[in-house]
Amino acid sequence: MAADSIAIVSASPRAARPGPRTRELPMIDVRNVHKSYRSGSRMVEALRGISCQIDRGRFAFIVGPSGSGKSSLLYLLGALDRPTSGEILVNGHDLAKMSESRQNLYRRDEIGFIFQSFNLISNLSALENVLVPFMPRGITAEQRRRAADLLAEVGLGDRLDHRPYQLSGGEQQRVAIARALVKQPVLILADEPTGELDSRTGDEIYAILRRMQESSGTTLVIVTHDRRFITPDDLVLEIQDGQLAGSDAAETVDYSAILSPR
Ligand SMILES: Nc1ncnc2c1ncn2[C@@H]1O[C@H](COP(=O)(O)OP(=O)(O)O)[C@@H](O)[C@H]1O
Ligand SMILES: [Mg+2]
Repeated sequence: MAADSIAIVSASPRAARPGPRTRELPMIDVRNVHKSYRSGSRMVEALRGISCQIDRGRFAFIVGPSGSGKSSLLYLLGALDRPTSGEILVNGHDLAKMSESRQNLYRRDEIGFIFQSFNLISNLSALENVLVPFMPRGITAEQRRRAADLLAEVGLGDRLDHRPYQLSGGEQQRVAIARALVKQPVLILADEPTGELDSRTGDEIYAILRRMQESSGTTLVIVTHDRRFITPDDLVLEIQDGQLAGSDAAETVDYSAILSPR
């Protein structure tokens, strides 16, 4: 195992084990990633050598104190930003080396984002907000049906025509969850999805996230500083001061033959 091996802290022995030799390639493989930001005249080292793997279909958490680098890591996974150094392989793509235009396609077609502040468009209905990812190309009847079905699945079947201001915070986040799922992304990235909600509403949102993740089989990575939503089967990546805490190492896989062309 290399010196920069992966530290994955897992809540259960089953989740901690990388699995047998036949193990499929992980959805996410982060290799020795550094991320620095310029802040005035000085540099802030937000991520300092992060390595980790997340398998397909996992419910994974990135936890740690405020300012530890959680959002920075999540944004790199979503190709919203590039690492200063290191490799980020997601679903067969080498994100750090991808062109701008391929990154746009990756974000559009493969990733569903859920943010703390919902980010709904205020003059669109709940249904139209869920359909936003399809809007650039025009919306089909099938897509409209799918969006309505998803809203029903998150418990908003009778709120399709409501504007965001007519919905509670929890209901707005449900719309955002439906919007994240509508294109059947391979990966959903959520940054503090319950950060603006009271604890009971937070519980409801997590119940929905788990149900939707199970039924879709997608991989879900959630940033949070609230550990009470973690269950024993979840993968937990714990960041402190830009580095992963913990000791369990994962294996290194050679992807050179299967990575998508740039
Ligand atoms: N765009 C940015 N410019 C400058 N500094 C940043 C930027 N984004 C994050 N940081 C800094 O990087 C560190 C990690 O931030 P972040 O990833 O947002 O942490 P977390 O999500 O765990 O609270 C913090 O010190 C933060 O101030
Ligand atoms: Mg954050």
